[in-house]
Amino acid sequence: MSEQVTLTQFIIEQQRGLPDASGTFTLLLNNLVTACKQISHRVNRGALIGVLGSAETENVQGEVQKKLDIITHEIMVKALDWSGHVGGMASEEIDDPIQIPKQYPKGKYLVLFDPLDGSSNIDINLTVGTIFSILRGREGVAPETEDFLRKGNEQVCAGFVLYGPSTMLVLTTGNGVNGFTLDQDIGEFILTHCNMKIPEDNTEFAINMSNQRFWEAPVKQYIDECVAGEDGPRGKNFNMRWVASLVADVYRILNRGGVFLYPYDLRDPSRPGKLRLMYEANPMAFIIEQAGGVCTTGRESILDIKPKNIHQRVPFIFGSKNEVERVISYHRQHDSAGN
Ligand code: AHG
Ligand code: MN
Ligand code: MN
Repeated sequence: MSEQVTLTQFIIEQQRGLPDASGTFTLLLNNLVTACKQISHRVNRGALIGVLGSAETENVQGEVQKKLDIITHEIMVKALDWSGHVGGMASEEIDDPIQIPKQYPKGKYLVLFDPLDGSSNIDINLTVGTIFSILRGREGVAPETEDFLRKGNEQVCAGFVLYGPSTMLVLTTGNGVNGFTLDQDIGEFILTHCNMKIPEDNTEFAINMSNQRFWEAPVKQYIDECVAGEDGPRGKNFNMRWVASLVADVYRILNRGGVFLYPYDLRDPSRPGKLRLMYEANPMAFIIEQAGGVCTTGRESILDIKPKNIHQRVPFIFGSKNEVERVISYHRQHDSAGN
């Protein structure tokens, strides 16, 4: 039997290479992953345990919450707040940063998360996930909102867990991207996808076409050319996928390439895109760029954005290097023509 590398072994072996590494990060990650195993179990049991459907409440985003949005948020907080490794948390589901209860020690890490991504799919049994981002904060200090508003290139770790046909963890700590599959028999994540790399070219795009009338010209141009296929300027046919679960679209692109666009939306300048910078775009951008892909708003690198607020939305375009660079060039041409 081939030697199986567990997530714990993988992280400890990676830590050995980091001079100032303490075991704290390994313990934090183990708590985080335990929460995701608990979420996987709830998601998998679904209707059997009455967790589907709407909670009939709204979150800070003004979105109606699913019962599982709230359940998964609570699982994440309860798995991390007592650990002594975390100084504070930020969640898609709660307006302000979550402080560590005073009876627990405050650690040096800040954890930001989307506890259930793609939740519009939960009632139709499609893949959903959990996305997390880890920043180094100020040890022993109750963090202010400002402590969370750090650029994506300051993340020390980013990952997501897919609750799909398999439960999978995709993780980066800045040394490449690795995928782990949950072995349900032993409850361990096993290394199955080493050093994932995104193909630089691909003929598959992911976008919600129903928003076409609200896109800027460079995005319209790029998509029109893909749809024109081999008779058009690209001289080849393209395919389209749209799962409406960012985690699923990211995982597909990590595996076989492609380009994902949730672009600038002309409807409301205060909502320049749908996806949230701090706990969707930033962690995914860290992963995608570590795998050789490119991530942009169309005009600037996602990881260089100085955040203004925790729930800030951004246009998010990422994927195969050569395709995303083409989209960026269309934005540059459009802007320099003074449009
Ligand atoms: P969430 O369920 O955490 O709100 O995220 C949903 C996001 C993302 O997962 C997906 O790419 C996008 O919303 C889909 O948006 P549309 O439903 O507008 O296509
Ligand atoms: Mn989400
Ligand atoms: Mn969510």
